[in-house]
Parts: sequence; C-alpha cells; structure tokens
Amino acid sequence: MNVPLLDLKEQYRGVADDVMRAVQSVIDDQRFILGPVVDEFENDVEALLGVRHAIGCASGTDALILPLRAFDCVGQEVVTAPFTFFATAGTIHNVGARPVFADIDADTFNLSPQAAEDAITERTRAIVPVHLFGQMADMTAFRALGDRRGVAILEDAAQAIGARQRTASGEWITTGTLGDACAFSFFPTKNLGAFGDAGMTVTNDDATAERLRKLRVHGGRQMYHHEEVGYNSRLDALQAAVLAAKLPHLAGWSAARRAHAAYYDQALAGIDGLVTPPVRNGNETIVNQYTLRIPGGRRDALREHLTAHGVGCSVYYPVPLHLQECFAYLGYKEGQFPESERACREVLSIPVYPELTQDQTAYVAETIRAFFGAAGS
Ligand SMILES: Cc1ncc(COP(=O)(O)O)c(C=O)c1O
Repeated sequence: MNVPLLDLKEQYRGVADDVMRAVQSVIDDQRFILGPVVDEFENDVEALLGVRHAIGCASGTDALILPLRAFDCVGQEVVTAPFTFFATAGTIHNVGARPVFADIDADTFNLSPQAAEDAITERTRAIVPVHLFGQMADMTAFRALGDRRGVAILEDAAQAIGARQRTASGEWITTGTLGDACAFSFFPTKNLGAFGDAGMTVTNDDATAERLRKLRVHGGRQMYHHEEVGYNSRLDALQAAVLAAKLPHLAGWSAARRAHAAYYDQALAGIDGLVTPPVRNGNETIVNQYTLRIPGGRRDALREHLTAHGVGCSVYYPVPLHLQECFAYLGYKEGQFPESERACREVLSIPVYPELTQDQTAYVAETIRAFFGAAGS
C-alpha cells in the first residue's frame, strides 16, 4: 500500500465544484488584486476568529514581515524559537532586526515562555511564539509576559489557523485572540491551503491594522503618496476565492485530522522507543502535522523503513535555526538550546491529512509497530 504524507488531489475532489465556481466568478469580474472577493474573505476570517481586523497578503512570510515592521522592530531584537520553519526567524532578519533565540518546551515543541522571558533585553521589541504543528503555544503566559515587559506578542500561527486553547477562567481562545498580531500562511500544505502563496495577518488593534494595510501597498494610505517604504504584498482575488470556498470545510478537515491523531495515539501507545505527540490539557490542536519522537538514534532508520514500505514521512525540522549557516553571525553554539537540538534529532511527521482512510492509517500504524517489533494492536 502507498500512503503519501499529504494528498491534495483527494481534498480537491471534494471541493472542486465550489472552488471552480468561485474562481470563474473572479475571472468573469477581472478584478485580480485585493477588491471585493479579498474583502469578503477577510470578513470571513474576522468572523471565524472573532478578531477586529484581518489583512490578506502575499504569503505567510509577509504576514510576519508586515507586523514586525508595524511594531517598529527595525534595529531591535525579536525573541523566537530555533525549532520552527525558517521563515519565523528569516523575517526577523529581513526587516533589519536581530533574531534572539530561546528554547522550546519538550512536550509541545513550542517556545517556552520562561525561556523567552530570560532572553529579553532592553532592546527586545517583540516575541514571536510559534504554534507549531497546529498546537498553540501558551498564549495566556505570553500575553502576561508581553504586558509585564512591554514587548509586542506576534503569534506565528502559520500552521494553526483555528486551533484553540482554554484559559484559566475556562474561556476558549483561538489564534489571534491574545496576540498583538497573528500571522497565518495559506501555503497549499496548510489546513487551509490556497492554490499558490497567500497569507494573512489579524489584529484587534485599529492602529496596527491601519499600518498593516498601508505596508502591504508600498507604505501609502493614498495612491502615489508614501509615508514609509512598504511592500507589494497584496492577497490576490483568485487565491481569496479559493480560500473562501474552502473555509467552510476547515473545521471538518481539522476534526478529521484530530480523529486520525487519536487513532495513532492509541495504536502506537506503549511502544518502547517511540513517543506520540502530547497535546496539553486545555489545547485543541488542528494537527497540521502528527509528529513522533524517536529517541535513541533510530529516527533515520524508521524513516527509511517507512519509505521502503510506501509510507510518506518527513523531518520537520532537521537543523535548528541557531545553527543555520546564515545565522552564524549571531554567534550561537551547539548545545545552547538542548530541547530544540534534541527535537531536530528525534522528530518524524507521518501522514495525517483528513482524507486518509481507516485502512491507510491502520497500515501506517502497523508499519511503525513492525519496525519496533511490536505486535499488532
Ligand atoms: C511556522 C511557519 N512560519 C511561517 C511560514 C511561512 O509561510 P509561507 O510559506 O506562506 O510564506 C510557514 C510556512 O511554511 C511556517 O510553517
């Protein structure tokens, strides 16, 4: 049997009519950049997340760049985790700020609020907690930290649109509720994926929203009048049409991913040398990735075994960002962020896309159990 890591064709089959109708209507209208279809999709996301402002842009990368600029991070320091996709820190560098790393919590793979606080200096302008693999970082702690230390909290929710977290008072919050701004990616592999690059930043702050809207169109409120130098980072209407047509399916897709995760949790329980991904009490993940840990140096052997048996898998991420060649100038050394470094050695993500059949998930679990010499569940 072959089980790919992700099968977007299966998803497309289920939404093709709606998506193509929406795309055709943009083509008929011939308004391709921003415009009413983008406005509508922004309104949809505002309603979904309960936020005041959603500002579409060209990619998840730009969805980080625009708020980093809006928070005046240029020439300042921004704290984030070294265990994340490169864009989280690449954007900090590219706006002319200095990435400062702090280690992750071992269970969730997310930036540790305590480690982030320890990394704050008088030049720290913002902290970027990443909601990695679909599970939210501890936003109650980060909100309190931002308020206490006077730094902006920019959520990198590229992988986590609609993930939820229960606060101490029992209230459910989501991505974008507590951050000063929150960035989403609609890269095709995300739970809500476009047909190309697309992104969005949300915020509850009116002044931040105005700045973001300005920055995405070359830094001018009025055409040909520029108060600052911004970007060409507009969401195009074809992508917005695709995303709006897919949006009603997002909750169901994420629930299907959770169901597959729950199956793997029990089918892979109790195997010596394998750790299934814990979800913290009070977190509802959208499982953008289901990421195993294989301690003891056997991760690459399991990867080869799965590949040989037709099971797609991937290492997100093999090299922590503080050890990337391009960040050598920051002066970090191996051993400085042990949890991030250990995660890079131990993680392996397996197929968890919504359309997987029971036979497929059973085959994935059996293939993993066979590697560890565990009897069938
Ligand atoms: C955590 C994280 N941040 C930022 C990004 C950047 O998003 P994009 O690829 O849409 O530019 C991604 C996308 O993969 C991501 O996973």
